[in-house]
Amino acid sequence: MAATPQSTRRHYLMCEPTHYTVSYEINPWMDSTRYTDADLAVRQWTVLKETFERLGHTVETIDPIPGLPDMVYAANGATVVDGLVYSAKFRYPERQPEGPAYEKWFADHGYVTHTAEVVNEGEGDILGVGDVLLAGTGFRTDRAAHDEIARVTGREVVSLELVDAHYYHLDTALAVLDSTAGREQVAYFPPAFSDASRAELERRYPDAVIASERDAACLGLNAVSDGLNVVVAPGAVDLAAQLTARGFVPHPVDTSELLKGGGGAKCCTLEIRGTRTP
Ligand code: ARG
Repeated sequence: MAATPQSTRRHYLMCEPTHYTVSYEINPWMDSTRYTDADLAVRQWTVLKETFERLGHTVETIDPIPGLPDMVYAANGATVVDGLVYSAKFRYPERQPEGPAYEKWFADHGYVTHTAEVVNEGEGDILGVGDVLLAGTGFRTDRAAHDEIARVTGREVVSLELVDAHYYHLDTALAVLDSTAGREQVAYFPPAFSDASRAELERRYPDAVIASERDAACLGLNAVSDGLNVVVAPGAVDLAAQLTARGFVPHPVDTSELLKGGGGAKCCTLEIRGTRTP
């Protein structure tokens, strides 16, 4: 029986979508001929940020840079484990300047940063659950980055292979509901994973929440949990019902404008785990 959900205070980094648009296509959700509304994106993003603050979390922001429309997806900006920052190294040239921009933010704020040598897209593909890091590969993050981050953090890294281009980052296919060691809970969409990775997830998390097709299709798994409160896309109704049944509290937040770029709540949220080295 899973433990009763409990929230813990989180520390997030976000980036206002001031310069948001879809001007290139690097995932199947993006259509550069479609109208995007940066003002609407900012309003939805502001509700997301205020939701985190209302739940008692600390949100810091990084200044958006003109010409980097995907910078709003802060989860891709780095991975922070025990206060140590492993930088992102983006696959596509359009996003490559974001890696150094996020790394500079952390360095300027007193964090020790490790500049990645291998292509990886931060927390989009690297998620902490208990003592392990789950790491996605297949579309964006190189398998070799899993070894690099294992070396840098000293954590066990579990590689998971993504096979559906719609779920190109791990955080589009799997949500960490409880990251506390000993009470780990995740939700995921099985068809997004290779057979071997699905077997690995079943072995590690036999009680996982299994998301439906409609949960996945609105990027409902791109959810942010503090251990109790789960900020999630309003369309993920099956997921919300399962969360409620387990004692979690779903908080639907509409990020539909940001879905046009292929992201949801979690994509906009980089969790700063641990405190910086004094
Ligand atoms: N347009 C962005 C890209 O394709 C979306 C990133 C979404 N972020 C995420 N953590 N899944 O890179």
